[in-house]
Amino acid sequence: MSTPAFPDIRMRRTRVAPWSRRLVAETTLSAADLIWPLFVASGDAVEPIASLPGVSRWPVAQIGDRAREARDLGIPLIALFPNTPGDLRSIDAGEALNPDNLICCAVRAAKDAAPDVGVMTDVALDPYTAHGHDGIIDAADCVLNDETVEVLTRQAIVQADAGADIIAPSDMMDGRIAAIRKALEGSGHCDIQIMAYAAKYASAFYGPFRDAVGSRGLLKGDKKGYQMDPANALEALREVALDIAEGADHVMVKPGLPYLDIIHRVHERFGMPVFAYQVSGEYAMIEAAAAAGAGDRDALLMETLIAFKRAGCSGVLTYHAPVAARILTS
Ligand code: PBG
Repeated sequence: MSTPAFPDIRMRRTRVAPWSRRLVAETTLSAADLIWPLFVASGDAVEPIASLPGVSRWPVAQIGDRAREARDLGIPLIALFPNTPGDLRSIDAGEALNPDNLICCAVRAAKDAAPDVGVMTDVALDPYTAHGHDGIIDAADCVLNDETVEVLTRQAIVQADAGADIIAPSDMMDGRIAAIRKALEGSGHCDIQIMAYAAKYASAFYGPFRDAVGSRGLLKGDKKGYQMDPANALEALREVALDIAEGADHVMVKPGLPYLDIIHRVHERFGMPVFAYQVSGEYAMIEAAAAAGAGDRDALLMETLIAFKRAGCSGVLTYHAPVAARILTS
């Protein structure tokens, strides 16, 4: 056995017992750090999503139960995403502005069932467009920024009118936070929060989400013309600075684990609440690794979640939110 170079300094001393490890833990995780994204089905049946084992789309009639489940688990916020029926998808994404669309009905169901649970809604047009892009396109399939921002702003007000507590623009158009903030102020919604998907990367990790909201088969091309290049970090800081200046209350980095450096830099630089979206592909990877016997699902999951907290996150959007909350309270 070799003697340590400085025998009086033993880093392992505090690691020996569980009580001591708890005492010196620099980071903690609780159910209050979790945001639970939920998919809404248009029919009456629960629809399992094959590429997200363990995740389903819920009919509006069961969204209230999910909101109560979140409340009982101590999860403060749910995020709703609709799977719009195909015949309601169009070039102009008009269904996004229908005050009785799937998302608005789901918001009302959640708030009726569990008013104490926050409800966040997604502002972007991809669940409503016939082509799967997040905005209005021109003849060359290019997403038009300013025309899209106009629709997104109206979409945000429709969602706020339905009772959403947090508006979360995930579209990556320029100037949308300012436009939405101004419209919220102008329509009596001055207490509605905005969580900006500020640094959202054009990522290969979104596949199962696109299955869940039914846009995978529809999408023409890719989203690299508006979502960020994974090669860039300084650009992410500019995106975040802009969204904060435009009136965001929270900023998000997405995907999660491959972008911990961005989260850390945003946390250090801005001192704003920063959230990570542990996206669908990350969920699927954890489940697949566990199913293949490559690791313990719960241990893999909890290690990723504490990593987000260590990097500086105020919280994490994760499809594993109820699983994690149960682990934390057991
Ligand atoms: C689109 C949107 C996406 C996600 C959230 N909002 C996918 C995309 O940009 O194509 C991905 C979330 C996930 O993968 O879990 N507005």
